[in-house]
Amino acid sequence: MKKILSTLLIATMTFSLLTGCSSKENTNQNTENKPAEKDTIVMYTNAEFAPFEYFEGEKIVGVDADIAAEIAKDLGKELKIEHINFDSLVPSLVEGKADFVAAGMTITPERQEEVDFSIAYVESIQNIISKNDAPIKTMDDLKGKKIGVQLGTTGDLAISDSINLDDGDLKGSGSEVVQYKNALEAAQDLLAGRLDAVVIDKLPAEEIVKNNSSLSSVIFGDISESYGIAVQKGNKELLDSINKTLQRLMDEGKVEEFITNHSE
Ligand code: ARG
Repeated sequence: MKKILSTLLIATMTFSLLTGCSSKENTNQNTENKPAEKDTIVMYTNAEFAPFEYFEGEKIVGVDADIAAEIAKDLGKELKIEHINFDSLVPSLVEGKADFVAAGMTITPERQEEVDFSIAYVESIQNIISKNDAPIKTMDDLKGKKIGVQLGTTGDLAISDSINLDDGDLKGSGSEVVQYKNALEAAQDLLAGRLDAVVIDKLPAEEIVKNNSSLSSVIFGDISESYGIAVQKGNKELLDSINKTLQRLMDEGKVEEFITNHSE
């Protein structure tokens, strides 16, 4: 009996550790059947997208991290940032693993079916990166070429659609899309001659080019994209708070300041 009891105790303790619920929390809160208020807020991102999010040693920094710190401050909570693959961000948020996603993520109708977005905080456009000695500047130049993208991004969609859709500009031209988990690996492959071009958002393209004198980037197409912070569908309370923080930061010129700080 003693053995069973202690096993049970250990099992309960392990459960509490795993779920992060202590019995104290359970009895304190839930009088109105509300979920226990957490003092930590969890952001998911893909930290391979400077200046918006990148690793500085073990730490994730960047424009979105700076914005998230302000969101957490306004909520009076501690911020935890986790790095995962870009194409897993929306599914993870839907599953409730994160409170919000800030990842230079473009607000698209498809994503809006699964998550709710904040007000737009940055405008962007796709860029093409290519080698100076084999420049690629237009959709026409991309014909028959091997093009690297980051899996699940709007750049991926633009290129994959033009190759695969019947009325796509690159359809039947022999162009090939290569989808990378990490856009920096795509840039490496471009440098190594395994790709002809990389299609990625403007500021991240400029960061990559800045660090490689044999590469250049140009604006691709004319579709402007707006970045938003995503929350689970219906999480109005958090979204309202995020919108307030974003509006304040934009009014104070802070978003611009964060971009300048992380683009140096
Ligand atoms: N803006 C693009 C999109 O939403 C690319 C975002 C990539 N972000 C990242 N953290 N890797 O698809």
